[in-house]
Amino acid sequence: MDLRIKGKIALVTASSGGMGRNIAHALAAEGANIALFARSAEKLAEVAAEIERSYGVRALPIVGDMTSTEDTARLASTLEREMGGTDIVILNTARPPNPIRTTIDENDPNRWKEAYDNQLLSVIQVVSAVLPGMTQRGWGRVVAVTSASVKQPMPHHSLSTVFRAGVTAYMKHLANEVGQHGITVNCVAPALIDTSHRNSAAAYSASQTEARKRLTPLGRLGTQEEISSVVTFLASVQAGFINGATVPVEGGMVGSLY
Ligand SMILES: NC(=O)c1ccc[n+]([C@@H]2O[C@H](COP(=O)([O-])OP(=O)(O)OC[C@H]3O[C@@H](n4cnc5c(N)ncnc54)[C@H](OP(=O)(O)O)[C@@H]3O)[C@@H](O)[C@H]2O)c1
Repeated sequence: MDLRIKGKIALVTASSGGMGRNIAHALAAEGANIALFARSAEKLAEVAAEIERSYGVRALPIVGDMTSTEDTARLASTLEREMGGTDIVILNTARPPNPIRTTIDENDPNRWKEAYDNQLLSVIQVVSAVLPGMTQRGWGRVVAVTSASVKQPMPHHSLSTVFRAGVTAYMKHLANEVGQHGITVNCVAPALIDTSHRNSAAAYSASQTEARKRLTPLGRLGTQEEISSVVTFLASVQAGFINGATVPVEGGMVGSLY
């Protein structure tokens, strides 16, 4: 299927590694030109170079912090100046603070503040900076990476659940407002995506990994490609009538009907 995003401009935030990097690759493989945004200049330059080398599209690294009003304003002005704005925005973010804890032990206001900044404020900052330009273009796709915890809270994940639910609500409000400008707004809610091969902070012990596999009827973890492909489809022309939705990518872990 031709997703019809060849030549479009796609901003992927938190894209110097992990899921953001993989999503940037998947969009570039469909011919989109990519703007990358994260704090590590060196890693961003590497990702930009590998994307340009692999797909022959343009990849622009923009260094900055998603939680900073100054940096996100500069992100928007750089996008306008260098690429003429953006058509697609993928709102990937940092992880919640480590280590994970039970909710009753999650009593440090600094961790709550960090979780709010990294997962919810960051999304609001980027959207506030780039959406005005997108509405003028009359077409757009906004996709946020949230978590399956918005439907089924996972043990020790309240720092994620609380703010991913906030992102989900924010995205629903946004979908209601910007549809008139040809922009769809959706969330992808992952769980159990295998990140252990590249992120030691996310690595689980062998027994924890086995237990995680048993949480889905498929008996395995999901791959990076299995989430990147769903995000890429939601960014496509063909996904134009999916709006205000949350698409689960969790192998059937969530037990509810809806
Ligand atoms: N794996 C799963 O099953 C699963 C499930 C639910 C949700 N998620 C969520 O999916 C997201 C991606 O996960 P991941 O494993 O790919 O994370 P990761 O490997 O830790 O990568 C996080 C990215 O965020 C960037 N970043 C961090 N703080 C930033 C900031 N303030 N401004 C801009 N960029 C920032 C980092 O780059 P710099 O350090 O260069 O800034 C890095 O590129 C996370 O939010 C995670 O919680 C994952």
